[in-house]
Amino acid sequence: MAKIGVFDSGVGGITVLKEINKIFPKERIIYYGDNKNAPYGEKTVENIRELCLKIGEFLVLNKVDAIVIACNTATAASLETLKNRFPHIPVIGVIEAGAKTASETTVNNCIGVIATPATVAMNAYQKSFNLLNPKISVVQKGCSQLCPIIEAGWKNTIENEAVVETYINSISKKVDTLVLGCTHYPIIRETIARYFKGNIVDPAKETAVFLKKELLLNSLEINENDNGSCEFYVSGEIKKFKEVAENFLGGKIEKIYQIEL
Ligand code: DGL
Repeated sequence: MAKIGVFDSGVGGITVLKEINKIFPKERIIYYGDNKNAPYGEKTVENIRELCLKIGEFLVLNKVDAIVIACNTATAASLETLKNRFPHIPVIGVIEAGAKTASETTVNNCIGVIATPATVAMNAYQKSFNLLNPKISVVQKGCSQLCPIIEAGWKNTIENEAVVETYINSISKKVDTLVLGCTHYPIIRETIARYFKGNIVDPAKETAVFLKKELLLNSLEINENDNGSCEFYVSGEIKKFKEVAENFLGGKIEKIYQIEL
Protein backbone atom coordinates (compact mmCIF):
# COMPACT_ATOMS: atom_id res chain seq x y z
CA MET A 1 0.00 0.00 0.00
CA ALA A 2 1.56 3.27 -1.09
CA LYS A 3 1.28 6.65 0.59
CA ILE A 4 1.57 9.55 -1.82
CA GLY A 5 2.75 13.07 -1.01
CA VAL A 6 1.48 15.87 -3.26
CA PHE A 7 2.42 19.53 -2.97
CA ASP A 8 1.95 22.95 -4.53
CA SER A 9 2.43 26.59 -3.64
CA GLY A 10 -1.26 26.61 -2.73
CA VAL A 11 -4.52 25.30 -4.07
CA GLY A 12 -3.39 24.65 -7.69
CA GLY A 13 -2.09 21.15 -6.96
CA ILE A 14 -5.63 19.93 -6.33
CA THR A 15 -6.08 19.86 -10.12
CA VAL A 16 -3.39 17.16 -10.14
CA LEU A 17 -4.77 15.55 -6.98
CA LYS A 18 -8.15 15.11 -8.68
CA GLU A 19 -6.54 13.07 -11.47
CA ILE A 20 -4.47 11.06 -8.96
CA ASN A 21 -7.68 10.29 -7.06
CA LYS A 22 -9.23 8.90 -10.24
CA ILE A 23 -6.38 6.43 -10.76
CA PHE A 24 -5.78 5.73 -7.06
CA PRO A 25 -9.15 6.06 -5.33
CA LYS A 26 -7.99 3.90 -2.42
CA GLU A 27 -4.53 5.28 -1.66
CA ARG A 28 -3.52 7.41 1.29
CA ILE A 29 -2.54 10.88 0.16
CA ILE A 30 -0.98 13.81 1.98
CA TYR A 31 -1.39 17.19 0.29
CA TYR A 32 0.67 20.22 1.31
CA GLY A 33 -0.34 23.67 0.02
CA ASP A 34 2.19 26.37 0.83
CA ASN A 35 -0.39 29.15 0.48
CA LYS A 36 1.38 31.42 2.96
CA ASN A 37 4.28 31.65 0.49
CA ALA A 38 2.23 31.76 -2.74
CA PRO A 39 2.79 32.85 -5.42
CA TYR A 40 6.03 30.93 -6.06
CA GLY A 41 6.04 32.36 -9.57
CA GLU A 42 7.36 35.70 -8.34
CA LYS A 43 10.22 34.26 -6.25
CA THR A 44 13.85 33.48 -7.03
CA VAL A 45 14.85 29.94 -7.99
CA GLU A 46 16.92 29.62 -4.78
CA ASN A 47 13.99 30.70 -2.64
CA ILE A 48 11.57 28.28 -4.35
CA ARG A 49 14.07 25.43 -3.96
CA GLU A 50 14.47 26.13 -0.26
CA LEU A 51 10.69 26.06 0.27
CA CYS A 52 10.34 22.84 -1.74
CA LEU A 53 13.08 21.12 0.26
CA LYS A 54 11.25 21.90 3.49
CA ILE A 55 8.01 20.47 2.09
CA GLY A 56 9.88 17.40 0.82
CA GLU A 57 11.33 16.82 4.32
CA PHE A 58 7.84 17.18 5.82
CA LEU A 59 6.37 14.62 3.42
CA VAL A 60 9.23 12.17 3.93
CA LEU A 61 8.88 12.53 7.72
CA ASN A 62 5.26 11.53 7.15
CA LYS A 63 6.52 8.40 5.45
CA VAL A 64 5.32 8.97 1.89
CA ASP A 65 6.40 6.44 -0.73
CA ALA A 66 6.40 8.95 -3.58
CA ILE A 67 6.31 12.72 -4.03
CA VAL A 68 4.35 14.50 -6.74
CA ILE A 69 5.41 18.10 -7.29
CA ALA A 70 1.98 19.33 -8.40
CA CYS A 71 3.34 22.73 -9.37
CA ASN A 72 5.12 23.74 -12.58
CA THR A 73 7.17 26.47 -10.92
CA ALA A 74 8.36 24.11 -8.17
CA THR A 75 9.04 21.37 -10.74
CA ALA A 76 11.17 23.72 -12.84
CA ALA A 77 13.11 24.97 -9.81
CA SER A 78 13.48 21.86 -7.69
CA LEU A 79 12.74 18.52 -9.42
CA GLU A 80 16.43 17.57 -9.67
CA THR A 81 17.18 18.89 -6.16
CA LEU A 82 14.39 16.80 -4.61
CA LYS A 83 15.34 13.72 -6.63
CA ASN A 84 18.89 14.02 -5.28
CA ARG A 85 17.77 14.67 -1.71
CA PHE A 86 15.29 11.77 -1.63
CA PRO A 87 16.83 9.11 -3.88
CA HIS A 88 14.94 6.31 -2.06
CA ILE A 89 11.51 7.33 -3.41
CA PRO A 90 10.13 8.41 -6.80
CA VAL A 91 9.80 12.18 -7.22
CA ILE A 92 7.58 13.25 -10.11
CA GLY A 93 7.00 16.68 -11.62
CA VAL A 94 4.34 17.97 -14.00
CA ILE A 95 6.35 19.52 -16.84
CA GLU A 96 7.49 16.37 -18.62
CA ALA A 97 3.87 15.14 -18.61
CA GLY A 98 2.56 18.45 -19.96
CA ALA A 99 5.19 18.66 -22.69
CA LYS A 100 4.58 15.04 -23.74
CA THR A 101 0.80 15.51 -23.99
CA ALA A 102 1.17 18.78 -25.92
CA SER A 103 3.73 17.34 -28.35
CA GLU A 104 1.31 14.49 -29.09
CA THR A 105 -1.61 16.92 -29.53
CA THR A 106 -0.18 19.64 -31.78
CA VAL A 107 -0.66 19.33 -35.51
CA ASN A 108 1.41 22.32 -36.70
CA ASN A 109 4.19 22.07 -34.04
CA CYS A 110 3.38 25.50 -32.68
CA ILE A 111 2.66 25.30 -28.97
CA GLY A 112 1.80 28.03 -26.50
CA VAL A 113 2.54 27.83 -22.79
CA ILE A 114 0.90 30.03 -20.19
CA ALA A 115 2.71 29.80 -16.88
CA THR A 116 4.14 31.82 -14.00
CA PRO A 117 6.92 34.33 -14.75
CA ALA A 118 9.41 32.05 -12.93
CA THR A 119 8.51 28.99 -15.03
CA VAL A 120 8.86 31.06 -18.20
CA ALA A 121 12.19 32.53 -17.03
CA MET A 122 13.56 29.03 -16.35
CA ASN A 123 12.55 27.96 -19.89
CA ALA A 124 11.31 24.71 -18.43
CA TYR A 125 8.84 23.79 -21.18
CA GLN A 126 11.15 24.92 -23.96
CA LYS A 127 13.82 22.51 -22.66
CA SER A 128 11.34 19.63 -22.51
CA PHE A 129 10.06 20.27 -26.03
CA ASN A 130 13.64 20.45 -27.36
CA LEU A 131 14.20 16.92 -26.08
CA LEU A 132 10.88 15.58 -27.38
CA ASN A 133 10.83 17.20 -30.81
CA PRO A 134 13.23 20.00 -31.81
CA LYS A 135 10.83 21.02 -34.60
CA ILE A 136 8.33 22.33 -32.06
CA SER A 137 8.30 26.09 -31.68
CA VAL A 138 7.15 27.41 -28.32
CA VAL A 139 5.47 30.69 -27.43
CA GLN A 140 5.55 31.35 -23.70
CA LYS A 141 3.54 33.86 -21.72
CA GLY A 142 4.15 34.66 -18.06
CA CYS A 143 0.80 35.40 -16.38
CA SER A 144 1.69 36.98 -13.06
CA GLN A 145 -1.86 38.03 -12.20
CA LEU A 146 -3.60 34.68 -12.53
CA CYS A 147 -2.33 32.62 -9.59
CA PRO A 148 -3.21 35.27 -6.95
CA ILE A 149 -6.73 35.73 -8.38
CA ILE A 150 -7.36 31.97 -8.41
CA GLU A 151 -5.86 31.50 -4.94
CA ALA A 152 -8.25 34.17 -3.64
CA GLY A 153 -11.25 32.34 -5.14
CA TRP A 154 -11.96 33.07 -8.80
CA LYS A 155 -15.04 35.13 -9.62
CA ASN A 156 -16.35 35.66 -13.15
CA THR A 157 -16.11 39.45 -12.99
CA ILE A 158 -15.54 41.74 -15.97
CA GLU A 159 -12.08 42.60 -14.57
CA ASN A 160 -11.04 38.95 -14.19
CA GLU A 161 -12.32 38.05 -17.65
CA ALA A 162 -10.35 40.98 -19.08
CA VAL A 163 -7.14 39.72 -17.45
CA VAL A 164 -7.54 36.30 -19.10
CA GLU A 165 -8.56 37.80 -22.43
CA THR A 166 -5.50 40.07 -22.52
CA TYR A 167 -3.10 37.22 -21.76
CA ILE A 168 -4.64 34.89 -24.35
CA ASN A 169 -4.88 37.57 -27.03
CA SER A 170 -1.15 38.26 -26.69
CA ILE A 171 -0.40 34.70 -27.84
CA SER A 172 0.33 34.21 -31.54
CA LYS A 173 -2.63 33.03 -33.61
CA LYS A 174 -0.39 30.31 -35.08
CA VAL A 175 -0.49 28.41 -31.79
CA ASP A 176 -2.76 25.35 -32.16
CA THR A 177 -2.16 23.87 -28.70
CA LEU A 178 -2.00 25.71 -25.39
CA VAL A 179 -0.45 24.18 -22.27
CA LEU A 180 -1.88 25.23 -18.93
CA GLY A 181 1.65 25.48 -17.49
CA CYS A 182 0.53 26.37 -13.98
CA THR A 183 -1.56 23.92 -11.98
CA HIS A 184 -3.84 26.72 -10.83
CA TYR A 185 -5.08 27.37 -14.37
CA PRO A 186 -7.27 24.27 -14.90
CA ILE A 187 -9.51 25.76 -12.18
CA ILE A 188 -10.43 28.47 -14.72
CA ARG A 189 -10.20 26.26 -17.79
CA GLU A 190 -13.70 27.21 -18.96
CA THR A 191 -12.80 30.90 -18.95
CA ILE A 192 -9.54 30.27 -20.81
CA ALA A 193 -11.43 28.17 -23.37
CA ARG A 194 -13.69 31.12 -24.13
CA TYR A 195 -10.67 33.01 -25.53
CA PHE A 196 -8.45 30.20 -26.84
CA LYS A 197 -10.13 28.09 -29.48
CA GLY A 198 -7.42 25.47 -30.14
CA ASN A 199 -6.46 22.42 -28.05
CA ILE A 200 -5.95 22.99 -24.35
CA VAL A 201 -3.55 20.70 -22.49
CA ASP A 202 -3.64 20.16 -18.75
CA PRO A 203 -0.61 18.10 -17.57
CA ALA A 204 -2.54 16.63 -14.62
CA LYS A 205 -3.87 13.45 -16.21
CA GLU A 206 -0.53 12.39 -17.72
CA THR A 207 1.18 13.15 -14.39
CA ALA A 208 -1.13 10.67 -12.64
CA VAL A 209 -0.32 8.08 -15.34
CA PHE A 210 3.44 8.70 -14.79
CA LEU A 211 2.90 8.21 -11.07
CA LYS A 212 1.24 4.85 -11.60
CA LYS A 213 4.15 3.69 -13.79
CA GLU A 214 6.69 4.85 -11.17
CA LEU A 215 4.88 3.08 -8.33
CA LEU A 216 4.76 -0.16 -10.30
CA LEU A 217 8.41 0.22 -11.31
CA ASN A 218 9.32 0.60 -7.64
CA SER A 219 7.18 -2.44 -6.75
CA LEU A 220 4.92 -0.33 -4.58
CA GLU A 221 1.59 -2.00 -4.17
CA ILE A 222 -1.51 -0.24 -5.32
CA ASN A 223 -4.12 -0.49 -2.61
CA GLU A 224 -7.26 -2.42 -3.57
CA ASN A 225 -8.88 -2.89 -0.18
CA ASP A 226 -9.13 0.16 2.06
CA ASN A 227 -11.00 3.35 1.46
CA GLY A 228 -8.75 6.11 0.18
CA SER A 229 -7.94 9.04 2.43
CA CYS A 230 -6.49 12.47 1.93
CA GLU A 231 -5.11 14.74 4.61
CA PHE A 232 -4.54 18.38 3.73
CA TYR A 233 -1.96 20.68 5.28
CA VAL A 234 -1.61 24.37 4.50
CA SER A 235 0.95 26.91 5.67
CA GLY A 236 -1.50 29.83 5.59
CA GLU A 237 -5.22 30.42 5.80
CA ILE A 238 -7.45 27.31 5.80
CA LYS A 239 -10.84 28.86 4.95
CA LYS A 240 -10.23 30.09 1.39
CA PHE A 241 -8.13 27.04 0.48
CA LYS A 242 -10.91 24.72 1.67
CA GLU A 243 -13.58 26.63 -0.22
CA VAL A 244 -11.68 26.67 -3.55
CA ALA A 245 -10.53 23.05 -3.20
CA GLU A 246 -13.97 21.69 -2.25
CA ASN A 247 -15.50 23.53 -5.16
CA PHE A 248 -13.05 22.04 -7.65
CA LEU A 249 -12.95 18.54 -6.15
CA GLY A 250 -16.72 18.44 -5.75
CA GLY A 251 -16.72 17.11 -2.20
CA LYS A 252 -16.12 17.99 1.41
CA ILE A 253 -12.60 18.10 2.86
CA GLU A 254 -12.69 16.52 6.31
CA LYS A 255 -9.07 16.60 7.43
CA ILE A 256 -7.30 19.91 6.99
CA TYR A 257 -4.68 21.40 9.28
CA GLN A 258 -2.48 24.46 9.34
CA ILE A 259 1.22 23.80 9.74
CA GLU A 260 4.03 26.18 8.89
CA LEU A 261 7.33 24.53 8.08
N1 DGL B 1 0.62 26.24 -9.23
C1 DGL B 1 1.89 26.71 -9.52
C2 DGL B 1 2.47 26.29 -10.83
O1 DGL B 1 2.05 25.30 -11.37
C3 DGL B 1 2.48 27.91 -8.88
C4 DGL B 1 1.76 29.18 -8.92
C5 DGL B 1 2.50 30.18 -8.09
O2 DGL B 1 2.62 29.93 -6.88
O3 DGL B 1 2.98 31.20 -8.62
O4 DGL B 1 3.37 26.91 -11.33
